[in-house]
Amino acid sequence: MAMIAKQCPDISVHVVDLNAARIQQWNSDSLPVYEPGLDEVVRESRGRNLRFSTEVDQAIRDADIIFIAVNTPTKISGIGAGRAANLEFIEKCARQIARCSSGHKIVVEKSTLPVRTAEAVKRILQSAGNGATFDVLSNPEFLAEGTAIEDLLLPDRILIGGESDAAVEVLASVYGRWVPRNRILTTNLWSSELSKLAANAFLAQRVSSINAISALCEVTGADVDEVSRAIGMDSRIGSKFLKSSVGFGGSCFQKDLLNLVYLCEHFGLREVATYWEQVVAMNDYQKRRFSERIVRTMFNTVSDKRIAIWGFAFKKDTNDTRESAAIRVCRDLLQERARLVIYDPRVSESQIRYELQAIWADQFGELSEQHKKLIDTNVVVAKDCYEASKDVHAIAVLTEWDEFTTLDFQKILSTMHRPAFVFDGRNILDRAALTKLGFEVHGIGKPTPCAR
Ligand code: UDX
Repeated sequence: MAMIAKQCPDISVHVVDLNAARIQQWNSDSLPVYEPGLDEVVRESRGRNLRFSTEVDQAIRDADIIFIAVNTPTKISGIGAGRAANLEFIEKCARQIARCSSGHKIVVEKSTLPVRTAEAVKRILQSAGNGATFDVLSNPEFLAEGTAIEDLLLPDRILIGGESDAAVEVLASVYGRWVPRNRILTTNLWSSELSKLAANAFLAQRVSSINAISALCEVTGADVDEVSRAIGMDSRIGSKFLKSSVGFGGSCFQKDLLNLVYLCEHFGLREVATYWEQVVAMNDYQKRRFSERIVRTMFNTVSDKRIAIWGFAFKKDTNDTRESAAIRVCRDLLQERARLVIYDPRVSESQIRYELQAIWADQFGELSEQHKKLIDTNVVVAKDCYEASKDVHAIAVLTEWDEFTTLDFQKILSTMHRPAFVFDGRNILDRAALTKLGFEVHGIGKPTPCAR
């Protein structure tokens, strides 16, 4: 919305949320999300044609176009628990829009939704019976965190699905102010809804595919980055999204894959469901494999050993930790009674502790006093990599932050126990240089180094 406000100064954009604390942050100098370039974009329009408030009813009354951008988390109980999307917030929004509207409005689904949700939204809107009329459009968002501003400025495509050509054109003309027309695709509603799930499933599948190959590389002596480069140069395959890692995270991939699996099952497409489910299974395997490798390499025990964790966000240039592979790896190591010293340039200590407690509660149904104590005593949060790596037996790189590659590794080595293990879950460090200095470096999909 901030980008629309920036590109269209004559359009008044009013962002509303029930969460007053969140809105207050959007109105302050410290925005609730870290995203390169976002501060400037918000600052340019806020107070001009961009407004943040909790006045939901009034915003609905005033608007010609309403974007629904509430979250659609995976259901945690009831039918489809663990797979289906929770549509409670979408439905509540639709009901509120129906209640407060008069005249004609265009309602845009921005949240990622299961296919055919627009039908439910339409029915709820039409049931208000107060004379208001609606067009429902699907306009999924494809931006990736960390590069959101670039992605919004020059998107690969804008997708708009809808039944009314006139309504589609109204929204297309908003994006058309800065996006070339040949990048604005229009489809029917259902294609648009499904394309978002399919795009995320394909992207996640590429990461799981290269991660599957990484396991094979480790036992055969092949190097996954070399394989990735070799296959990526085939123009039919393409080079993007082939970076092997400790596993994909983020708020979308797993949620959307599970949602897709649920949809397939719902429609009786068991084989299709199993196919996509395997992408998630492979990602779980990759995370588990990483922690198991750490334990195995460190003489089958990490109990009471200090391990530095570099990075906690699910990728660089964001403070988002949702589904981050780091959470799972830290939990596994804590279960082995390791002592963790965690550093992330953007993630706060409270967020790190929150995630570790949450995954435990998720696993056992509740967070016992014993587990809470384990997290309290065995997790320390450091202010930089140097502090995190002091007196440790190993370093595990879990997020690919640029700053991790330009450190004084001689200095770091001098404060570590020997053998000085490095487990590079992102393959960002210079293995040859670190090995020369005296580290024992284990990368993803890299030949196992010989013990010194
Ligand atoms: C994703 C989609 O890319 C985006 O189009 C959609 O709108 C939202 O979901 P996002 O989750 O923000 O975006 O980040 P993305 O860059 O896709 O990375 C997702 C995860 O995959 C991260 O954990 C990342 O580290 C991992 N990844 C990505 C890899 O491990 N290897 C890769 O080659 C690419």
